[in-house]
Amino acid sequence: MSDAVKSQEERNEENALDEADKKTMSRRIFLRSVMWASTLLTLLTTALSGFMLFWPRKIEGFGSLVRAGKLDDFPVGSVTRVRSGKFYIARLSEHELIALYWKCPHLGCTVPWEPTQNQFVCPCHGSRYNITGQNVAGPAPRPMDYMTVYVDEEGTVIVDTGDIRERDAHRSEHVTRV
Ligand code: FES
Repeated sequence: MSDAVKSQEERNEENALDEADKKTMSRRIFLRSVMWASTLLTLLTTALSGFMLFWPRKIEGFGSLVRAGKLDDFPVGSVTRVRSGKFYIARLSEHELIALYWKCPHLGCTVPWEPTQNQFVCPCHGSRYNITGQNVAGPAPRPMDYMTVYVDEEGTVIVDTGDIRERDAHRSEHVTRV
């Protein structure tokens, strides 16, 4: 009788141990699943970011990437208006160019290039800017804004008109080297 009770107690203990083992196992499986899921998510996010980085962006009008033309279309010293992107390409030297947003930083008028004066001259209040967009006269509080420029492997000049940058003075880092 006592042996029978003992073996029943032992069986109960074994059952309790089995239950505890099952709980530990299911916790382990759960944690392992969470770990694999987060690893997979991280890998997917990284892959997607890489994909987006190399996927060509849509090229359209103002606010996105705009093809300005071939590098050879911009002779040294020239200033070319690109209407679709609202900017000028100023070819500063053989190896340097800058894209200038045509909106006057004073009160927003469109600033034309005056080739006879070799300056941008705002018709509204007379602000003047040199070929780099640096303000040299008038009420404008800063130089003309500039945009990021890329030259692709075929020599096409592409301007990111969604990336317009203000500056307090013209500096060499605002220029794109080609
Ligand atoms: S808007 Fe150009 S100088 Fe005022």
